[in-house]
Amino acid sequence: MNNKISQHRILNSGKISRRKTPRLFARQDSMCQPKVFIQTFGCQMNKYDSEVMKSLLLKEGYEFTDNWQEADVILVNTCSVRQHAEERVYAYLWKWSKYKQETKPNLIIGICGCMAQKEGMNILNKIPHLNLVCGTYSIPRIHEFVKDLLKTGGRRIEISEDYTDFPPPVHEARETKISAWVAIMRGCNNYCAYCVVPYVRGREISRSVEEIENEVKELARKGIKEVTFLGQNVNSYNIKNKISKIKNDFALLLKRINDINGIERIRFTTSHPKDMSQATIEAIRDLPKVCEHIHIALQSGSDKILKLMNRKYTREQYKELVEKIRKTIPKVSITTDIMVGFPTETEDDFMDTYNLVKEIEFDASYIFKYSPRPGTKAAEFKDDVPEEIKQERLNKLLSLQKRIVQKQNEELIGKEVEILVGCHILKDKSKYFGKTRNFKPVSFQSDKDLTGKLVRVKITEIRGGLLEGVLASQN
Ligand code: SAH
Ligand code: SF4
Ligand code: F3S
Repeated sequence: MNNKISQHRILNSGKISRRKTPRLFARQDSMCQPKVFIQTFGCQMNKYDSEVMKSLLLKEGYEFTDNWQEADVILVNTCSVRQHAEERVYAYLWKWSKYKQETKPNLIIGICGCMAQKEGMNILNKIPHLNLVCGTYSIPRIHEFVKDLLKTGGRRIEISEDYTDFPPPVHEARETKISAWVAIMRGCNNYCAYCVVPYVRGREISRSVEEIENEVKELARKGIKEVTFLGQNVNSYNIKNKISKIKNDFALLLKRINDINGIERIRFTTSHPKDMSQATIEAIRDLPKVCEHIHIALQSGSDKILKLMNRKYTREQYKELVEKIRKTIPKVSITTDIMVGFPTETEDDFMDTYNLVKEIEFDASYIFKYSPRPGTKAAEFKDDVPEEIKQERLNKLLSLQKRIVQKQNEELIGKEVEILVGCHILKDKSKYFGKTRNFKPVSFQSDKDLTGKLVRVKITEIRGGLLEGVLASQN
């Protein structure tokens, strides 16, 4: 392995580039395009980046496969947010590396995204047959790296801290034909004490309104009905953007996109409580296409823990924000992220969180056990909450949230809701699935293909936590 690494030289930028190597890996069969398999972990932004990778490779003529054993190129797009996420990726890399050694020596294996950005050279050292480490900033050049590696093999590390603007993914690379993610900004300036994202995604930058508008118009032209704006902190869109001279904000962006014909629904994720402006809350209320759903991470209900986490709001301020949102936007749903077992979290701190969740009654909570991330501020604190206590607190919150959702779902029985019909459920071609405006999943039967249509469904029952209903009318 070290021999191969020595074929690379380190550039001034700290990048390692490959010296000229023999064309050992050139494909013999020029009729058949190399097949690529992409495995994605992590948040929606990573899924979007995988769509970007796929679109860049599609443009170069590569084929795609869902079966990694058929692939000539395996790329894994990774997440570093918790240790467990990283461990899963290492397990895959070991498996593929062994397969390459034993069965398919010309296979190209690459790791992309947040773990690549964070770990860099360490991964090349750990995984013997890995060819490529491609950080988050280098994803727009993935097609160049793949082309080069297919010709020559070898090993390559591409970690930069300089964004060229991300190319929007082509429509063919998007996962569904009804909904599409649209990245409106990247990076994060918040430095929550536990979080690795600012280190792997860099500082906040926003795309211009015009660029986003053009991407959404193109999506609408191709039949997309719903767009979800992505960013680590969408409601600070453009506020801190030093590149654009024009001062825009998130509410204005919502308004501009609301005017695009063909788009029926606009969603966005995620919002930081400290940046949720009155203008944005009112835009959600007033713009007909903007759905009444806000994901706004609480993390903890204890002021002591919030301060240690560097979240920049108090329990009371969070409560006031929720009250303001609910007063302004009728039928809004509010979902959240919560972390248990942050360093020094006592039973009283946890009960502050538990009681706040009980009081607010979120429509959904994504609950995580704290996982120390080397290099973050919190990693300097002792991870002093034992694993079994973290698990116990997680379970308690999960069952509380389940009861809340059950109660909310029961209140919906007999009511009519608007659904954007997304897809069939598994093999049952007459069963459709979609989401309400406020993000509740609903299924119903129909003999007609209603994919992509807005329909009204009357909720009749709850099955396995899912709302089921009957078709009431079609818009
Ligand atoms: N930008 C988003 C969060 C992105 S990370 C926001 O602030 O809303 C998604 C979630 O992962 C976070 O909200 C947090 O609850 C969780 N998370 C982040 N770092 C973590 C860590 N070190 N251990 C456990 N959970 C973590
Ligand atoms: Fe991480 Fe905090 Fe930024 Fe969210 S706001 S990505 S939790 S640092
Ligand atoms: Fe994970 Fe990177 Fe997203 S660390 S949560 S994939 S920004």
